[in-house]
Amino acid sequence: MEPFLQNIVILSNILYALHVDAYSSGLVQSACVDMTPGHNVSVQTSTPPYSLTLSNYTYTPGANISVTLQNMSSGIIEGFLIQARDGSSTVPLGYFEISASDTIVQKLKCIKTGDSVSHTSDVAKSNVQVTWVAPTTHYSNIQIRATVVQNFSIIWKDVVSAKITYSGSASQQLGHRKMGKDILKTIV
Ligand SMILES: *[C@@H]1O[C@H](CO)[C@@H](O)[C@H](O)[C@H]1NC(C)=O
Ligand SMILES: *[C@@H]1O[C@H](CO)[C@@H](O)[C@H](O)[C@H]1NC(C)=O
Ligand SMILES: *[C@@H]1O[C@H](CO)[C@@H](O)[C@H](O)[C@H]1NC(C)=O
Ligand SMILES: *[C@@H]1O[C@H](CO)[C@@H](O)[C@H](O)[C@H]1NC(C)=O
Ligand SMILES: *[C@@H]1O[C@H](CO)[C@@H](O)[C@H](O)[C@H]1NC(C)=O
Repeated sequence: MEPFLQNIVILSNILYALHVDAYSSGLVQSACVDMTPGHNVSVQTSTPPYSLTLSNYTYTPGANISVTLQNMSSGIIEGFLIQARDGSSTVPLGYFEISASDTIVQKLKCIKTGDSVSHTSDVAKSNVQVTWVAPTTHYSNIQIRATVVQNFSIIWKDVVSAKITYSGSASQQLGHRKMGKDILKTIV
């Protein structure tokens, strides 16, 4: 092979290795918005063999809700990205807390530190548990969402929890509405 071509091959191998490494290390900020890893494999269209269950499906401002991502069949979890979103919005809501002893999960910063969590390595796991701290204001359509990488070529997007409903006090809701109006005033 021409030395020039050889160099290109070596360089592209290095770039590929770095790219893959970014995914296996879970540092997947490039997937913040579309929640799709850059593996360049098509996502599965069948029902995901994973569930997202919560300790509570109602939230008060700043409530701590335990979130469990689990395999429903033999599907193991190599990688994941978890966020809370309101309807079709791509803005992650609230933030996650992970215990100091947790070696499986790490916080990511998409917009704010800890608004997303991902794997620390591609070691196979059957479940992942984190605490989600709810926002302080009222959203109507919050769901926890995950993308799960079963292995490098098998990926499920749209693993979603049931809806989480706001149950803050009337005064807090009022406060939020008032805040909304004030923001509107500032913008207008
Ligand atoms: C992604 O995969 C498709 C189909 O296998 C291929 O045509 C395309 O070149 C790939 N893109 C990248 C950026 O690797
Ligand atoms: C769920 O959250 C509500 C407030 O939204 C609270 O009253 C209730 O005690 C919580 N339930 C559990 C099991 O934590
Ligand atoms: C959530 O948990 C943290 C840490 O345990 C605690 O400090 C905080 O008061 C809890 N928040 C609510 C709303 O219960
Ligand atoms: C999850 O995957 C593990 C490892 O393959 C398996 O042992 C376990 O039975 C699975 N869990 C469920 C609920 O199927
Ligand atoms: C992914 O898992 C499937 C099903 O278990 C297997 O057929 C395939 O070879 C695996 N691919 C990789 C890249 O490990």
